[in-house]
Amino acid sequence: MRVLSGIQPTGKIHWGNYFGAIRQYIELQNHPAALYFIADLHALTTVRNPADLQANVTNAALDLLALGLDPAKATLYVQSDVPEVTELTWLLMTVTQMHLLEKCHAYKDKKAKGIAADAGLFTYPVLMAADILLYDSNLVPVGQDQIQHIEVTRDVGQRFNTIYEKEVFVLPEPYVVQSLAKVPGLDGEKMSKSYNNTIEVFMEPKQLRRKIMSIKTDSKGMEEVKDPETCSVFTLYKLFANEEQQAALAEKYRAGGMGYGEAKQALYDSAMEAFGPAFDRRKQLAEDPDTVRDILKEGARKAREKAQEVLQRARDACGLGGR
Ligand code: TYM
Repeated sequence: MRVLSGIQPTGKIHWGNYFGAIRQYIELQNHPAALYFIADLHALTTVRNPADLQANVTNAALDLLALGLDPAKATLYVQSDVPEVTELTWLLMTVTQMHLLEKCHAYKDKKAKGIAADAGLFTYPVLMAADILLYDSNLVPVGQDQIQHIEVTRDVGQRFNTIYEKEVFVLPEPYVVQSLAKVPGLDGEKMSKSYNNTIEVFMEPKQLRRKIMSIKTDSKGMEEVKDPETCSVFTLYKLFANEEQQAALAEKYRAGGMGYGEAKQALYDSAMEAFGPAFDRRKQLAEDPDTVRDILKEGARKAREKAQEVLQRARDACGLGGR
């Protein structure tokens, strides 16, 4: 079983990234082949400042390592350190039907807002298909918003196999934990940088407290009975708490006499407990940039071995080279 996933270095990682994806990266890293990468080529569609991009890549590596990604088990690399992916993107582009890309959310949403999309944004899913197919990936841990892209990957891989009458590509499956697939943000909508509703994983305690206190709730008073199932604070609390803890807080909601401030405090305490150790580890790692650089370099070396093998298969199938 080969596992692969990627994350864009577009800013600070948030609870949606962690619970929707990174937690599963770590859970699956004991598979003999688990590859995780920082998608800097994808980030070029939004990050246009070179210093920012570089800092974001380093930060993403620190985040993943601090949260438990173990380079002795999984391969961690930067997407652009494996240039084979851009060649495969072109090969795939020649068999990708326009209608598949036209229905993809990122492009459709921009178009609906009347914003002109770059060709990079339009063809973003093809680069993502190349990311996945280049490593014979079977399983791709992601949140709900990426499932469509994995379906495109399967369609494109299948079409290439059909056209060239060879099983060149392995078709992947998404790995989605349903209860974590769509983490809500401060306003109850999907947590996302573009909605400006994120809670970052790594924050100073004061900042974290302020953010949690700003989560939108209804305006029920202290004494009133409340419904945990429709409250974002409770939904977020469930990410951290075991069943017993969840039942205890739900009971307080239903009994009345508890204000939202108390529920928010419980959420803050559990987030501090969950991410506190990683916060300290991250600080330590940040003081050792050479180690992080070496991990990424070694990761790219290992990833390229597999990438070159699969790219060669694709080149052979369509008759490139071989003279
Ligand atoms: P990105 O960087 O936007 O997000 C990284 C991962 O976090 C998940 N996620 C969420 N999950 C649950 N609830 C949320 N609110 C939430 N917000 C984000 C995403 O589903 C994702 O799994 N296109 C990808 C990066 C990528 C990739 C790949 C992923 C490039 N190539 C190949 C897998 C395989 C992206 O933009 O993720």
